[in-house]
Amino acid sequence: MDNSSSDHDSQPEVVSNIFTERFTEFNDDGTFKNELVEHTIETEATVPKLGLMLVGLGGNNGSTLVAGLLAHKNQVTWESKTGVHTPNYYGSFTQCGTTKVGIKKLPKGGIKDVYKPVKDLLPTINPTDMEVTGWDISKDNLFEACKRSHVLEPDLVNKLESDLSQIVPMKAAFNPEYIAANQSDRVDNILEGTNEEVIELIRADIRNCKERNEKVIVLWTANTEMYLLPELETIEDLEKAIKDNVSLPASVLYCVAAIKEQVLYLNGSPQNTFHPGVLALAEKEGGLLGGNDFKSGQTRFKTAMSDFLIGAGLRISSIVSYNHLGNNDGKNLSEDKCFQSKKISKSGCLDDAIEGNEILYPRDGKDIDHDVIIRYIPFVGDSKRALDEYSSKIFMDGVNTISTYNICEDSLLAVPIMIDMVVLGELFSRMKVDGKAFGPVLSYLSFFFKAPSTNHPEYVINSFNRQRETIVNLLKAASGITPDDATLLSFNY
Ligand code: NAI
Repeated sequence: MDNSSSDHDSQPEVVSNIFTERFTEFNDDGTFKNELVEHTIETEATVPKLGLMLVGLGGNNGSTLVAGLLAHKNQVTWESKTGVHTPNYYGSFTQCGTTKVGIKKLPKGGIKDVYKPVKDLLPTINPTDMEVTGWDISKDNLFEACKRSHVLEPDLVNKLESDLSQIVPMKAAFNPEYIAANQSDRVDNILEGTNEEVIELIRADIRNCKERNEKVIVLWTANTEMYLLPELETIEDLEKAIKDNVSLPASVLYCVAAIKEQVLYLNGSPQNTFHPGVLALAEKEGGLLGGNDFKSGQTRFKTAMSDFLIGAGLRISSIVSYNHLGNNDGKNLSEDKCFQSKKISKSGCLDDAIEGNEILYPRDGKDIDHDVIIRYIPFVGDSKRALDEYSSKIFMDGVNTISTYNICEDSLLAVPIMIDMVVLGELFSRMKVDGKAFGPVLSYLSFFFKAPSTNHPEYVINSFNRQRETIVNLLKAASGITPDDATLLSFNY
């Protein structure tokens, strides 16, 4: 590997490294060939001024993200009954994660691991440098939105009042048919017009944001919508539905606007915004997409737990997941049409784990019994409860049952992940492998999504460890560091 041009002191315009990828290709008859493929990975080194546009700016996630970044920027401390608190980014892989980058030989003999912060492998944006704006169907300013969400401590929200109250969501694209009827009481800020007109208005908002920033990212963190079925199969289907003013979910209108403006569109909710016709449009127009549905709590834990159980050779046979939550997301999900989108998104996360072990899961054998239940209990607010029962078959058909009970502020888990997908999405949009940019789907962001969308629908990685390894190894390869094969053969381990 040539790391000569990745010397950060000399501030190169492009960080360029040659990386030799290794993998083994199998034939149907079980024979295989070890492949070595040389790639050039180039990353533009200049970090742009970024404008982040949130769809659902005034929601629990949107308002918590804005307040959290303001608290960081202005180093605001706040008091609760447990004492004085200072801002942190705990829960963010980019801001708090580290990775082993190599070893150091000790003067007296022996070795020690060397770690680096993930954010320092390549030049990345500082989250507090972003301009955050966006749309909401409610015109409450962000001070009112933070008060409404009951996520952050009142002392902090009050200290940020002068900044927060100046941020008012822009008028939103809205189609009530696709979200729960119980959301109607917050609708007072919507764009009027045909599909075509609304797309044009959103594009104008994006262009305005582009005028103040060098790059723009749109992130959907609005209500979970009902699935649109049948899917829009082709660009022609999509364009016809827009032109004929067919009733389309708002997310499709935002996504088409983002594609046309060639800005990255990230989908934090489970609905099927990325129809085949939308993906084809992104490919044709040079759009970039990442999704779907933030993987923040229960599903993230499930994909780590299944790594552990199946990785240890145990046969998980049943997983029953139950949640109750009392925030506005829970209220919206209490309507079955929206819950079904969430259920689909939460259900597929074990597919690759099952596929990967034919001893535990023979092709003609039974899958895992897996069910997901969500209930709306207003009293618990944003503090979501997740109860999971994992039952595995063990030696000689015994049964091992592990039950977990997790209580956590939902938005305080989601916001660091939103920051991560923006930081890395922005970075990946500055990278080229062998002269070609990533896209139309930024599959490397799968680590942050419950139901990852990839450029190969048949190849989706859900495993927590594999997703993390893939992203970390890409960052290392692009920064000139050899991804470690972990054999330790040279060190007499
Ligand atoms: P929320 O209900 O508090 O916020 C959603 C916001 O979107 C509301 O302010 C609403 O007025 C607004 N909105 C609805 N339709 C809109 C439209 N067409 N255009 C613009 N704004 C619109 O929900 P929360 O808790 O912030 O979650 C947001 C989304 O993230 C939900 O879909 C949720 O399922 C998803 N999600 C959240 C996770 C978490 O909080 N841990 C994890 C995984 C996904």
